[in-house]
Formats: sequence, C-alpha cells, structure tokens
Amino acid sequence: MSKKAAAKKPAAKKKPAVASKNKSLLVENRVFKPNPEFVKQARIKSMAQYKTMWEESVKHPDKFFGREAKELLWQKPFGKVHEWKCPNSKWFVGGKLNVSENCLDRHIHGARKTKAAIIWEGEPGEKRVLTYQQLHREVCRFANVLKRNGTKKGDRVIIYMPMIPEAAVAMLACTRIGAIHSVIFGGFSAESIKDRVNDCQAEIIITADGGYRRGAIVGLKKNVDDALKGKDTSVKKVIVFKRTGQDIHIEEGRDVWWHRELEYVDAKCPAAQLDSETPLFILYTSGSTGKPKGILHTTGGYLLHSYMTCKYVFDLRDDDVYWCTADVGWVTGHSYMVYGPLAMGATSLMYEGAPNWPENDRFWRIIDDYKVSVFYTAPTAIRAFMKWGDHWLKKHDLSSLRLLGTVGEPINPEAWMWYHNLVGGGKCPIVDTWWQTETGGHMITPIPGATPTKPGTATLPFFGVDVGIVDDLGHEVPANEQGKLVIKKPWPSMLRGIWGDKKRYQETYWSDFKGWYFAGDGARRDKDGYIWIIGRIDDVLNVAGHRLGTAEVESALVSHPAVAESAVVGRPDELKGQGVVCFVTVKEGIKADRSLADELKAHVRKVIGPVATPDEIRFAAALPKTRSGKIMRRLLKQIASGETLKGDTTTLEDINVIAALSAASGED
Ligand code: PRX
Repeated sequence: MSKKAAAKKPAAKKKPAVASKNKSLLVENRVFKPNPEFVKQARIKSMAQYKTMWEESVKHPDKFFGREAKELLWQKPFGKVHEWKCPNSKWFVGGKLNVSENCLDRHIHGARKTKAAIIWEGEPGEKRVLTYQQLHREVCRFANVLKRNGTKKGDRVIIYMPMIPEAAVAMLACTRIGAIHSVIFGGFSAESIKDRVNDCQAEIIITADGGYRRGAIVGLKKNVDDALKGKDTSVKKVIVFKRTGQDIHIEEGRDVWWHRELEYVDAKCPAAQLDSETPLFILYTSGSTGKPKGILHTTGGYLLHSYMTCKYVFDLRDDDVYWCTADVGWVTGHSYMVYGPLAMGATSLMYEGAPNWPENDRFWRIIDDYKVSVFYTAPTAIRAFMKWGDHWLKKHDLSSLRLLGTVGEPINPEAWMWYHNLVGGGKCPIVDTWWQTETGGHMITPIPGATPTKPGTATLPFFGVDVGIVDDLGHEVPANEQGKLVIKKPWPSMLRGIWGDKKRYQETYWSDFKGWYFAGDGARRDKDGYIWIIGRIDDVLNVAGHRLGTAEVESALVSHPAVAESAVVGRPDELKGQGVVCFVTVKEGIKADRSLADELKAHVRKVIGPVATPDEIRFAAALPKTRSGKIMRRLLKQIASGETLKGDTTTLEDINVIAALSAASGED
C-alpha cells in the first residue's frame, strides 16, 4: 500500500496502549475425575492401566511400539523396531507400507466401505459426504493425475488449498505415489509461498481458484501466480481446483484444471511400496531466525503416532462423528483431521470457513446438525466464543458431544471451565494436548478414561514420551519451579530433520542438552507430576495458536524502505494469547506517523500473510541495546505489556531510550 493510500484510510479506533492480560480471573483448584459413563466405554479405564502401559512404553519401547505397529497394514513386515543415533532416528526398520493404503484401502473391504470418511460443509452452506469407497476412488484418480503431470516418488508437491475435501485428496494422493507434500496455510502470502517453493524446490503446486472466508473470496490462485513470477522457479505445473468460479489467469503450458485432468485418468492406482522412513511431508513452521524451517516427517512412525493418539487420546469409536477445527495448513490438520482419524477408519468432519459466519453460532449449529461427538479446537477459539456470549450455544443441542479437546496454547482455567460446563454439559472429559509441529502428534495429554484433569494443565506424558523439566545444566528442577521442557527419548513421530539443513536441525533441537530434544517451551511440574506449560521461551510467539517467529516479522519490517531497525515482541492478549508489538526506528527524514504505522502493518501482511498482522507499531528514536549492541528484548516485552520495568538495566547503553520508548506509540 502506498503512503497516500494509507493516509486516506479512516482513522482506526484508538486502542489502549496496553492490552489486558490473559490471566484468568479464576483460580480453579478442583480436580475432575473421568466421568464413569465415559470410563465404561474407554479403552484405558484407570490410572493403574495408564501407568503400566507408560512404564512399558519407555522401558521397553521396542516391545510396546512393535506391538502397536502391528495394527497398521504393512506390505513388508519391519525388522528392528527402532534405531537411534542422536539426532537420527529410524522406526520400523526395513518395513514397507503406504499411508493412503492404511487410511483407505484397508477400510473398503468390510463394513466401513460405505461409512462416511469425510463430512464436509462449505462456508456458503454446501454439504458433501465422501464414503471411504468414494474417497479411495478420488485419491486413486488424483494420484494418476499427479503421475500424468510428471510427479514421481520423492518429488515435492505444494498444496495451497481452501478447506475442501480435495485438500485431503491431494495429500493422500501424494502419499499413494510417494511424493512429499508441503501444505501451505491459505493465510500465507505470495512471498511466503515463493520462499517455501524455493526452499524445497517443488515442481508442482495444487491450488484452487479461491476459497471462502467470512463471506469473501480469498484469491488463492492469484497468490500462486504472484509467487511464480520471474524465471527462476522450480515449478513446472499448477493444478487448479474450481471452487469459487471467479475469473482467474491460466498460464498456458503450466496451469491445468483439476476436473479436466480427471477425464484422462482411471480409478486404479496401486499404492506404492514405501520404506518406513520414506519422507511423507514437509511442513514449514517458524523458528527463532527469519527463515521458516521445513519440518520433515516420515512414513511409518508418524502414521503410528497419529493413529495411536486418535485411539487412546480421542478414544475414537466407530460411531463417532469427530471434528477437528484446525486448518489443514497446520500440523493439527495433518495429524488430526486427515491421517490419524482416517487411519482409524473414523468419520472426520471438515468445515471450510470462519466460526462466526454468517453468525456467531456456526460451530454450535454444525455440532447440532451432524451430531458431532468428539470436538477438538483451540483455546483462542474458546475465548472468542466466551466473549460472543452463551446465548449462541444455548440455541443448539450439544448433547451428542462425549469428548472435548484443546491444542495450540495453554488454556486458562476460566476458558477450561466454560468449555467444560457450557459446551460439554459438565459430562465430557477435556483432553488438553501439548505437542508441536516437530513432534507430529500429542506428547503430553490426559487419557480421557483414566487421568483426573485439572483446568490449565496438559497433565501427563503420552506413551513413549519421557519428559524432563530441567535447568540450564540439565538437572531436573524441583516441583513447581519453572524449567525447560525436554524430551529424553526418541519417539516414533519425531521430526527427522529440517529440509536441506542438517546443521540447523542439530543446533535448534539437540545442542542445548546432549541427546535430549529441547522443545523451546518452559514448563513446571506440580507435586502430582502434572506438567503445566508456561509457553515459548525462545523468540517465537504464539498468536491465536499459530507460531510466529519474531525474527520473521522483523525481517519483513526492515524490508520496507522507511524502516531502519525493528524489534518485535509479544504481549499478553485476552483473546489471542499473544499480540504482536513492533518497535520500529525509521530512516533519516522519514515521518513516523499513523499513516506509516498502517502502511507497515499492510507491508507485513503482504510479505508474510494476514496471519502475521502486527497489533501495534511503536516508533522510537532508538531501541534499547546493551553496550555490545544486543537489543534488550526483555525490556521491550515489559514495555509492550505496560509492566513496571524489572531486572538489571545497568548494561543498557542509553537509559533515556527506555523513557522515550515507554511513551511512544504508532497508534496515537
Ligand atoms: O508453545 C507450545 C504451544 O504451541 C507450540 C507448538 O506450536 P506448533 O508447532 O504450531 O503446533 C501447534 C499445534 C500442535 C508449543 O511449543 N502449545 C501447543 N499445544 C499446547 C501448547 N501450549 C500449551 N498447551 C498446549 N496444549
């Protein structure tokens, strides 16, 4: 946006300089025992059973996981269960299998043949159901389309799609032929697509003309076109699904329509025999540098973990209607909308749009309409529902629900209690699941028929997960003291690397504590051994459950010609968990005013995507630095949150900077 255009925008409402903290007003000390009705049907019915299984899983992982893995379909049985030479892990060595075959073929020869695999609702209201048999057919046909367009085993395929069944079809089709998919969330910009395409050297992009979000069309194909401008792209083909029907540019020789391609292929496509360690997907996520990391997951271990957690944590049953509200562009959408539930032969519901479209009760309406029984969402969504008011859900019958889950950020006890009482009617267990893109699946979580829950804690480790809460020297910290969260043993669905960057993989995860995985989170264990996640302790923010690197936003800001320097920090935000505050110094002769602040926000949206929109731009003459030139982020965080400054400021180069910064705000 030009400065002129920015200046014409109506003045935004003045925001308070300091957002209210997301600390709960309520301290909830009650412990919630599993509901006896739930326990009757649960796979794991007691803490004693959980503890026995957990002990075996960490003491004899080969025995435990070898037995669990036999529930999957192997084309060739594995030999050794597990090989570990830090940081390289191999699971189910020598075994061959295919993910799409596990998710589809093995369900279509029995009673599940005509069972709904995906129930879909579009934002404008269309409804579709794909049975396992139909989904199998669509995946086979589309796998043939991929082959027809030159895709081979090991090729990287970008998927940039709205939340429609074809996104799952595209993912599963890649797995059928051994291509590696990389799904990009629809809220990322053309530049973000370009970076990811270049990093993994993708040859093919699967997209749609557009998708619906809050009644508007998101121009996905337009973003792909912009990303592919210039001669240096690795992309040779773009396959376009017609979703919205608006006019789009079609590049002759490069772009093909999904529906036209289907006319040339048949519905037979054998599932490729793939080694258990064959790369399955790359998913980009933010780290503490400006460049997102391509997290690599492989076949056998990932599939087992997503399957096992759906079995034990969601305790999915054949008659469940299961709904995970995450977008397929995030890891939660991968593991818990597509792979885990389909591997279990469950019915997975998918909804395309926003929770408040056309009105604030869309989610409750969907639960009522489809009689959803297991519901998995994010604390940020729960806080928004609370704010919109109880009357929206009271209009609907939610009695079909039997289990609730949360993921993405710590849930404050107040939101937990609201979820428990109003959504779950006081009867549904809540599984607060801690995990990461890197871990592939749940790591710390209640087992719903066994674990007594306390609002705000993810409770205890999942099978095979050996957690430590340690100080900088790796010593376990005493109960109730904060430490760094580490995982001491490899687990089946752990990341296998960062695409193309072995060094960064080693340095990011394995160098703080030799042989242990450092998660980047702080946590404490209470006297009962329950783990309370404090949040990221690296330079990564968690905004509405989405990871965002402060360095990514900083590099987007300094790419604007007016900006000399920037430092980005998080501040507590009532709804989103964290808000993005950017401290900016401008170049000589540039006027730092509201119109520039708006322009910088628009610039960050353009560079990274709407997902990274700053909440506040604060201009300053200088940033607080140590004498050695390091920006003192600790101070900036305190300033952004409106806190009184604590700690040592003696290393600060110029103490006056602090007073100026505390006063400055681009929003004024
Ligand atoms: O800080 C933790 C937070 O989300 C981070 C992982 O983000 P991402 O890789 O995008 O994956 C999100 C979905 C799995 C973690 O390092 N986080 C995730 N789940 C929880 C959580 N924090 C507290 N409680 C959780 N249940």
